Amino acid sequence: MPNNKRDYLKLLLEHYWFAPPVALWRAIELRSVAAEEFPRPILDLGCGDGLIAAALFAHEPPIEVGFDPWWEQLRQGAASGQYKQVQQALGDALPYPDESFACVFSNSVLEHIPALQPVLNEAGRVLRPGGRLIATVPSDAFRRLLAGYRERISVGDVEGAEAYASNVDQQLAHHHYDSPQEWTARLESAGMRLSTARYYIPAAVAAIWDRSNHQYGIYAEGQAFYRWLASPRLKRLGYQRWLQHLIVEKLGRDWRRLYEMNVPVGGVGAGLLIIGEKI
Ligand SMILES: C[S@@+](CC[C@H](N)C(=O)[O-])C[C@H]1O[C@@H](n2cnc3c(N)ncnc32)[C@H](O)[C@@H]1O
Repeated sequence: MPNNKRDYLKLLLEHYWFAPPVALWRAIELRSVAAEEFPRPILDLGCGDGLIAAALFAHEPPIEVGFDPWWEQLRQGAASGQYKQVQQALGDALPYPDESFACVFSNSVLEHIPALQPVLNEAGRVLRPGGRLIATVPSDAFRRLLAGYRERISVGDVEGAEAYASNVDQQLAHHHYDSPQEWTARLESAGMRLSTARYYIPAAVAAIWDRSNHQYGIYAEGQAFYRWLASPRLKRLGYQRWLQHLIVEKLGRDWRRLYEMNVPVGGVGAGLLIIGEKI
């Protein structure tokens, strides 16, 4: 069971001090996911550097398997000690036998894969009957909750709003934003039943997150001062440790309310937690 009492905001600000909005999004994501049961054995699909596993499963035995196509991420994942086994693989060709896992976990991965259905089919194949696919993705409401989109729509600039959202898609390499209904159909084709579709990142937070991406230079455009300050090239000057401390303290306070904010009942958010159950 993940640790659902942990202060993920502080933890992720410490790690992503150089990209604070990334910390905010991922901290809320973890807060949402940490309420879930993760039956063992677990397969971490697109495990990356192991940071998320470390945050969720601190003080628990390592996750059984993590895989990722990206060598450098995989190397860090292996070094993290969070996995019993790591492997290089692609989601649409899993080197694991049928029904070999009780849980497939995929955090912030599926939106980056253009051809998604073959990956879900593979997840369905390696899950045992009753096993769970737990995935976090940006939601079908993501684009329209962006501050830049809303500002343009509010003055009737539909084309500008669309162009703004398309630019964000490109910057973040997002290929789809499925609704809970679309997830139902996708999972059904992969032999699973949608058991949970829960939004996180409420509208107010999504708007601030989008503005902060400009402010902190996450969108790779313009010349944000912070991006320059946090550049690895300037690490040798020694001030970044102080900057990290400042960010953790200040945003750990200022963003606390955003971190703890829930999506109103019946409302939508920019993130979506999807849980599928293998039939
Ligand atoms: C945003 S990172 C998330 C990493 C990790 N799950 C986390 O939450 O920190 C997206 C990951 O998806 C991986 N990825 C991209 N295409 C993939 C594919 N076809 N199959 C599996 N993983 C893939 C990338 O290599 C990258 O590590």
